[in-house]
Amino acid sequence: MKVSNRPTRVAFLVWTLAVKLVLCGIGVSASNNTKNCRLYSESKSERKVLSRLEPLTNKNITAETKNGKESYTYVFQLCGDAGGVQGAGLIQVDSKSETPKPTIIGSYNATQAIGGSDWIMLIYRNGDKYDGHCSKENRKAIVMISCNRKTEMGPLEVILEDRDRKEDCFYLFELDSSVVCPVLQSHLSIGSIILIIGFCLLAVYLIGGFLYQRLVVGAKGMEQFPNYAFWVEVGNLTADGCDFVCRSRNRDEPPRYRGVSTEPLEDEPEERDDHLLPM
Ligand SMILES: *[C@@H]1O[C@H](CO)[C@@H](O)[C@H](O)[C@H]1NC(C)=O
Ligand SMILES: *[C@@H]1O[C@H](CO)[C@@H](O)[C@H](O)[C@H]1NC(C)=O
Ligand SMILES: *[C@@H]1O[C@H](CO)[C@@H](O)[C@H](O)[C@H]1NC(C)=O
Repeated sequence: MKVSNRPTRVAFLVWTLAVKLVLCGIGVSASNNTKNCRLYSESKSERKVLSRLEPLTNKNITAETKNGKESYTYVFQLCGDAGGVQGAGLIQVDSKSETPKPTIIGSYNATQAIGGSDWIMLIYRNGDKYDGHCSKENRKAIVMISCNRKTEMGPLEVILEDRDRKEDCFYLFELDSSVVCPVLQSHLSIGSIILIIGFCLLAVYLIGGFLYQRLVVGAKGMEQFPNYAFWVEVGNLTADGCDFVCRSRNRDEPPRYRGVSTEPLEDEPEERDDHLLPM
């Protein structure tokens, strides 16, 4: 009974492997959160770029900066309320302040998404107005997301706040992520494809042979294995070959032992014949 279970188990393994491969290929993505972003100017190509970032949604990503006495915490969320502030995609909180009031750097209802093969630049406009700088325009956040296969989402880094000019000021951030990396053509090398095909053929051979031996020939026990006698023979021949190649003692032995050592050799063919008999 134990032996007859083995081909079934092999078939089960092949089946689960196949299912896994199919699932990997399709790459199921269930959520739809980037839809919450409203584009500054609706466009299909920008939607497509934005949807590449779907795995990064629903996460508060924080960064901290220290500059002398000033210390700020930034919270970024993709198409969701950053730090729970409604409508804000990126906020700044004064860490030193006792009653921290978040400043909105950018809103996700004014999003722009520009992308290349291994990067995406995300722009949130419509932040809170500057108090004195930049002609008191609305703040704007630019988040540069670059491909890094080593991490799904690296730390958010604050690069600079460019506000010493008349207009078009911005806060610049950087984020490493594997989700913007180009899709690899095939995860399988030729070697592993050959291996999988060989594995499947072996399974077909084992299962088919097993069924044939059991149902057509009516074999029982170990003989249900396809070509059982042949494989036993192969095993014995391999063992003989190994014995011949690897064992050094026979050749170096003094002549008087030769008679003794040849005896087992003569025995072996008989042993092999024993296995052939049931055929
Ligand atoms: C995502 O949203 C679009 C439109 O809102 C809808 O047609 C689509 O079925 C949604 N997809 C999923 C996976 O929820
Ligand atoms: C983000 O942070 C806010 C405030 O801390 C919290 O209310 C919200 O649930 C967080 N969102 C996620 C997705 O972690
Ligand atoms: C985005 O939302 C803010 C407040 O939540 C609003 O003042 C602003 O007009 C909105 N912007 C756009 C482009 O809809």
